[in-house]
Amino acid sequence: MATERTFSILKPDATRRNLTGAINAKIEASGLRIVAQKRIHMTTAQAETFYGVHSERGFFRELVTFMTSGPVVVQVLEGENAVAQYREVMGATNPANAAPGTIRKEFAESIEANSAHGSDSTENAAIEIAYFFSGCEIVG
Ligand code: CMP
Repeated sequence: MATERTFSILKPDATRRNLTGAINAKIEASGLRIVAQKRIHMTTAQAETFYGVHSERGFFRELVTFMTSGPVVVQVLEGENAVAQYREVMGATNPANAAPGTIRKEFAESIEANSAHGSDSTENAAIEIAYFFSGCEIVG
């Protein structure tokens, strides 16, 4: 198995409810290491670019509004098969379908306010990490 990095966002619903520590505890309990982390308030332009792949979807405008509605915590996670591992820790996008014990099952409010984002591939992880972090901000 390969050591990988993935990109994570703890979303505005998580920061609003003071849940970043509880979510980080689940991340670290899974064996993933938080090798970079910062709290930011995304601009509309940043959110639109980050979620550009969804720009034709009906939920795009609401998604951008939600992601800029409060602070987020952006992170780089490192570990064995980190991309797939974190998707497992997060659970299904829609919390109604998420497995017990996952971040989204325990914390998400809705499919939009679903507490966490994780990259869907190593290629996208590299793009997403580079969008928010410079190399010297990542300390493995
Ligand atoms: P995320 O992993 O951040 O990637 C895109 C986000 O769009 C997704 O998580 C959801 O929070 C959000 N979203 C809102 N509505 C939908 C929907 N109907 N289908 C998929 N994703 C949605």
